[in-house]
Amino acid sequence: MTAGPAPRFPHRHLLGVGELSPRDIGDLLDLADGYVALNRRAEKKQEKLRGRTQINMFFESSTRTRTSFELAGKRLGADVINMSPATSAIKKGETLIDTAATLNAMRPDVLVVRHPDSGAVKLLANAVNAAVVNAGDGSHEHPTQALLDALTIRRRLGRLSGLTVAICGDIAHSRVARSNILLFNIMGARVRLVAPPTLVPTAADRYGVEIHHDMRAGLKDVDIVMMLRLQTERMQGSFVPSEREYFQFYGLDYDKLAVAKPDALIMHPGPMNRGTEIDSEVADDINRSVILDQVEMGVAVRQACLEALARNLDDPEHNR
Ligand code: NCD
Repeated sequence: MTAGPAPRFPHRHLLGVGELSPRDIGDLLDLADGYVALNRRAEKKQEKLRGRTQINMFFESSTRTRTSFELAGKRLGADVINMSPATSAIKKGETLIDTAATLNAMRPDVLVVRHPDSGAVKLLANAVNAAVVNAGDGSHEHPTQALLDALTIRRRLGRLSGLTVAICGDIAHSRVARSNILLFNIMGARVRLVAPPTLVPTAADRYGVEIHHDMRAGLKDVDIVMMLRLQTERMQGSFVPSEREYFQFYGLDYDKLAVAKPDALIMHPGPMNRGTEIDSEVADDINRSVILDQVEMGVAVRQACLEALARNLDDPEHNR
């Protein structure tokens, strides 16, 4: 079974890492550790969400996040429905809040929401009774991604505190970067942002991070190298001269990686653009790359989050 007696998760929704305490994060990771073990067994089915209904609302494309939330809900015994905006009444001009109110009337227990606008998931959470999980809102937050990254690191290196992490690439448009910066700060890891000046967010100096525009300086002696995709769908105009030149200066290859710690881990939230932000061989390096571990941890972390939120649905303090 999952690890020990369940500690209380003091939140009705999971909207961002910014609202979590070190204890909340540690408890979720402990719970997720139990699910990693369960997911490696032939019989994966649990009953923690039995009788519950989970609706996945993805207003933006997704492979691993949507699939892993679906698997997580199903493995916990929930009825899981995927709402696809492409074929929903959104296409007929219905507002987000009207869609939310409509779904809410069907009494779902959990809504997992991804939306291209920062803040949209919180807006929706305020309009429904269900527990809401933010599966990525614009360039704002993607809390379960940061949690799965943390679980991947904790399982490999045994801790988060005291580590130095370089987050490299398109930081400006990345909710993954933002949630990870928050989480590493909360858990006592040091963060370096490595990117061309055009891809560093304007308020980055307020994040408590070091900023580098040169990969070799930024990667020097780091424990973790986390690469990010150029999020061209969020860019208006061009932010880099060409993908080829971008790879030359900011793409992770063995040459640039050589200055990191010899056993530094390579991470990427996916989807990867091989040859743009990361060299194919580095991405597939079985000794260094934990990119597929991240995917495996994603299911377990999402199970932990769903379990923690579902427990609160019965709690009168949450006065639903
Ligand atoms: C990321 C996302 O959608 O924010 N992907 C993911 O969730 N695994 C990063 C990206 O799209 O580049």
